Amino acid sequence: MTSDEITRIFEDHYHRLGHRDAPESSLLPPPGDPVLFTTSGMHPLTPYLLGRPHPGGRRLANVQRCLRTTDLDEVGDRTHLTAFQMLGSWSLGDYDIATSLRWGFELLTDGYGIPARKLHATVFGGDDHLDPDATAWDTWTALGVPVEALGEENWWSNGPTGPCGPDSEIFVWTGDGLPTGRPSGDDRWVEVWNHVQMSHHRHPDGRLTRLPLTSIDTGMGRERLEMVLRGDRSVFTGDGLGPWAGAVRDRWDLAGTDLRVVADHLRAAVVVLGDGVRPGNTGRGYVLRRLLRRALTVLWRDDPTRSLGDLPVTLHADTMRRFRQPVDPGPLPELLCDEEHRFRGLLRRGRPLVDRVRARGPLTERDYHWLHDTHGLPRDLVDGLLADAG
Ligand code: ALA
Repeated sequence: MTSDEITRIFEDHYHRLGHRDAPESSLLPPPGDPVLFTTSGMHPLTPYLLGRPHPGGRRLANVQRCLRTTDLDEVGDRTHLTAFQMLGSWSLGDYDIATSLRWGFELLTDGYGIPARKLHATVFGGDDHLDPDATAWDTWTALGVPVEALGEENWWSNGPTGPCGPDSEIFVWTGDGLPTGRPSGDDRWVEVWNHVQMSHHRHPDGRLTRLPLTSIDTGMGRERLEMVLRGDRSVFTGDGLGPWAGAVRDRWDLAGTDLRVVADHLRAAVVVLGDGVRPGNTGRGYVLRRLLRRALTVLWRDDPTRSLGDLPVTLHADTMRRFRQPVDPGPLPELLCDEEHRFRGLLRRGRPLVDRVRARGPLTERDYHWLHDTHGLPRDLVDGLLADAG
């Protein structure tokens, strides 16, 4: 099944169930928003999850491009990505979690053909303030899906403030043979979909209050779903990531974690550039810069002549088309090469400076400040140079 077919089946399912399309946002949240990037399909819907009526009604669905830097340490494994597309559905105070889970189960089994025996669910097991989620537990049990009750892993929030609540995660078995074990103890169970009951509101002063209406927010990573439908264990072989992994492997002879980090970060950088962000020293620009620098650091470890200019432009265009970004990829190669050039210069100037400071002993906070304020060398770059020097 191609990723376009996956999306069509998702949209058809929710349209049939009375959902209207919520407009897709860019990766840039509106001004004043506390997060740098759209990290989940719910993010642009925050005011509506808190109670404002949505012009599209109370049942919505869409595909939203997302960028997650909180998972950056996990990127490099086979299933985490920095930029991805999220298939989302919402009940804004309309149907409840039981309905959402049943419709989700139908889509996975009838729509996508995943055998029910390959599914496992987790639900919120309760804490000091809230009871276990008996409704989600009973719904899965009635559907014949094994279920595990967990703690804070099954409480979802998009950040320190805003709507939040208990969730139920759906896992698919990706191992050989019959499913065994539980999601919490066996990583052959891969999470594909999360159904959150947005029942609470975390306020800036830390208070947690109940929302007048409970909404449902679901999100499923398209690349991961595509992976399990292919019967694969890596997102890097699908039609979105496969061309990136192939280009990186062919040009630079990388494998394993290095290949995945470079392919993921360069692809994410293209999507961020596609939404108009430019490299910089603060905020989104700095996230973009770090993605590119981390990829270049891996690339230059074996061969400092490797250049981002060697990537085929068709890769950028294909990625932007998949992420439905309506812009011309034309300026990208030059932007990537400019940033590469700047980083090369910084390393050339930084290396002797860091060596000099280091010769006096371990770096102090004052050294870091001096290297940053006087020479423009950020802490993570200094740490990278120190690690290189051994
Ligand atoms: N907002 C939920 C998530 O991103 C669905 O997992």
